[in-house]
Amino acid sequence: MVTIIKRNSPKEYLLRWLGKLKYGITSMRFTMVATYFAVMLVTLVLMCIYVIGLLSESLYNTETVDMFAKANIIAMTVSDQWGDNAQLSELRFADTVDRSLAGTSIRGVITNTAYTVLYDTNKEAGLVGKAFMRDVLKRGLDGEQAEAYSESNGMKLLMVSVPVEKNGSIVGGVYLAKTMSGIEDTIRVTSTSLIVFSAMIVVLIGMLSFGLSYIITAPIAEFTRAAREISKGNFKYRIKVRGTNEMTQMADTLNYMCDELGLFEEKRRKFVSDASHELKTPMAGIKLICDSLVQAPDVDPAMIKEFLSDMSEEVDRLTRVINRLLVLTKLDGGMALKPDQTDMKALVDRAVRKLWGMAEAKNIAVHRLYSDKTFEPAVLDADKIYEAVYNITDNAIKYTPEGGQVYIDMQERDGFIIIRIEDTGDGIPEAERERVFERFYRLDDSRSRETGGTGLGLAIAKEAVTMHGGRIEISDGTEGGCAFIIIIPSDGGIHM
Ligand SMILES: Nc1ncnc2c1ncn2[C@@H]1O[C@H](COP(=O)(O)OP(=O)(O)OP(=O)(O)O)[C@@H](O)[C@H]1O
Ligand SMILES: [Mg+2]
Repeated sequence: MVTIIKRNSPKEYLLRWLGKLKYGITSMRFTMVATYFAVMLVTLVLMCIYVIGLLSESLYNTETVDMFAKANIIAMTVSDQWGDNAQLSELRFADTVDRSLAGTSIRGVITNTAYTVLYDTNKEAGLVGKAFMRDVLKRGLDGEQAEAYSESNGMKLLMVSVPVEKNGSIVGGVYLAKTMSGIEDTIRVTSTSLIVFSAMIVVLIGMLSFGLSYIITAPIAEFTRAAREISKGNFKYRIKVRGTNEMTQMADTLNYMCDELGLFEEKRRKFVSDASHELKTPMAGIKLICDSLVQAPDVDPAMIKEFLSDMSEEVDRLTRVINRLLVLTKLDGGMALKPDQTDMKALVDRAVRKLWGMAEAKNIAVHRLYSDKTFEPAVLDADKIYEAVYNITDNAIKYTPEGGQVYIDMQERDGFIIIRIEDTGDGIPEAERERVFERFYRLDDSRSRETGGTGLGLAIAKEAVTMHGGRIEISDGTEGGCAFIIIIPSDGGIHM
């Protein structure tokens, strides 16, 4: 055996891969995951920026306030100690400033208004007696509570300066400076922790959104599969989904739809096969007659006439079936009702009149029990309701033996018209009462066929009545036989 392996060209491979990629990117799952991810990422980045900004502002503020507090305490203390003796002043200031700044990394400088340093905590700088020019100090000597930041060698410096006042005039200034490396370190450590924490959240949310998107989209894949199966005519397919209520509800609805479609399809098949069978029987009769005539060597004219009359009967039967099928298909096709004000008494009378001859021929008395009553005009499609009344009365006469009785009564009650057609025939067994409305269904097939029954009369009647929002019930007759009860809303379910 030779196996042919077809290799794809690189172009085909690339096109297929691109197709898959496009499908993946435009898929609901990808969109959901990407959206969750993007929203989460943007939120976390904004949150990090905001939190870090807030933290650094707060730390710098605290530090500045603390520096000003220290500078002002020093300024107040040195003001009391201010004197003409420079050496004595330095000694006093040293005590005050060193004590105030003990345990901190703050550098403190005291100057007079000529910017000459009177005391400097940084002894190594050797600035005492020399000029110390700083912009922030100038502002301090001008009477301002001055602050400034500078940055050198990647190190941030916070500087504050306040005036030293004695007897209402400015005699000098206090300058304090501190590196911000502590605060910067705190901000760096916090930022790193926040970023790591955010990254973990993003990964976690990413995994969760992937799982969630799978839970949500998995049923959709199942629905797609089901729709494909249903469109192929596989109505036995059942959708199995677990998860959210909406999805299981949708699956139940689709499964129900499948059941209904399956039943509908089964009915349609049965109808087609029954209809074909019904049409085939008279056709076979006609064929048989034709063959007999052709094969007979010499047939006398009387015989030909008899054969032709048999053939005519078969054609009549065929026509009857076809006509009834046409009526039924029209009703089935959801043909619009043509409602009108209808005199119900006249409608039933018309059906009785039409069947009077048949009743007389069988010596059956048809009692019009409604004849003395008066009725409001009903709003309904008279032709269709006439068809129903006619078919049921026709059955009552047809399936009642000679000399029997048929009672027809009518009444109006609670917005409904109730027509009761009772006979004294053989009746319909309880178990068959649903089935007689089925198409082509006959209780006694051969007998009904003999009487010319097509088995479509009650199907037509039921269709016409249900179109009006009504129903037909069957019960036992009071003198044997059975009673058909037609119940229709007097506005024909049309609410004009
Ligand atoms: N009043 C009745 N009494 C006894 N059996 C009935 C009665 N009405 C209907 N049936 C039974 O129900 C079957 C179905 O009735 P339906 O009117 O649909 O068909 P049909 O009378 O055989 O044919 P068609 O109405 O086309 O002439 C009948 O064949 C008959 O067996
Ligand atoms: Mg009938």
